[in-house]
Amino acid sequence: LRTGTASSHGKTILIGEHAVVYGVPALVLPVLDVRVTATATPVALDAGSRLESTVHTGPLDTAPAAVLPTVTAVTATLRHLGAPEQHLHVVVDSAVPTARGMGSSAAVAAAVTAAVADVFGRTLDVEEHHELVQECERVAHGRPSGLDARGVVADVPVWFEDGVVEPVPLGAVFTFVVADTGVPGHTRQAVAAVRAEHDRDPQAVDAVIAAIGDLARRARGTLVDGDAQALGATMDAAHELLTALDVSSADLDRLVDAARRADALGAKLTGGGRGGCVLALAADGEHADRVAAALRAAGATETWTTTIGARA
Ligand code: MEV
Repeated sequence: LRTGTASSHGKTILIGEHAVVYGVPALVLPVLDVRVTATATPVALDAGSRLESTVHTGPLDTAPAAVLPTVTAVTATLRHLGAPEQHLHVVVDSAVPTARGMGSSAAVAAAVTAAVADVFGRTLDVEEHHELVQECERVAHGRPSGLDARGVVADVPVWFEDGVVEPVPLGAVFTFVVADTGVPGHTRQAVAAVRAEHDRDPQAVDAVIAAIGDLARRARGTLVDGDAQALGATMDAAHELLTALDVSSADLDRLVDAARRADALGAKLTGGGRGGCVLALAADGEHADRVAAALRAAGATETWTTTIGARA
């Protein structure tokens, strides 16, 4: 046995939030530059397992509810590997903000499960890794769709449709800026509000949902073609449709406007809405700096720049 290490990253939804609940496709974007690292060191049986993280530092068996998904990552992986009695000292260092739609719980789970496997010299294959992360996500969220679990281990965007998960190859480098409104997202209420409106006026809501599905298909083509301009246009259009579903907010709209005034190629809310983050597309790294500055001037509490695609 040895000290195991692994890392993972955040994710955000490129196109398809809310509509995905009704079965239309969605694109998930890995945020490769916002990372989680985990190490797991085997310790003697009488030492007991410990966790060290910003949320909790102390024995694993008396950890508070907030870190139960992380405890699950350790215990489920040990059980999976046939070593339930092994004690570990687990250290988690996460730059993925919590409750911002960036998949922090899944990212931590992905890093911890892989680090525990690495203790035994094991590399989890994609499906067993996904299953273990989903087990943690069920502890964190009840009934996770699996979007987060796929996004935090992918290195290209992931296409989701009817349970089919496909990596999307990229025809260029894309540079995104994620900006936090500083207001926690209200995914559950937003999903319920869309459902209530759908019950009231199914035809109108179905039309918006179908239009978001069309945007997801178009966006997928722009990623493959490396057409950032066209991708930005689909993001702008998606924000208008999400506004029609009433899941935006004044804070989100203000940040989207600020990004567009800084000549972002496109901008939209990302995730559940009514708080949380916006996602903007920049032309390159230098432009991303300007977009990020404009977003902070408009009130964003934090911004992250991330690139994806073949790097020169
Ligand atoms: C939230 O990140 C994404 C939603 O589509 C809800 C879901 O897919 O479960 C709003």
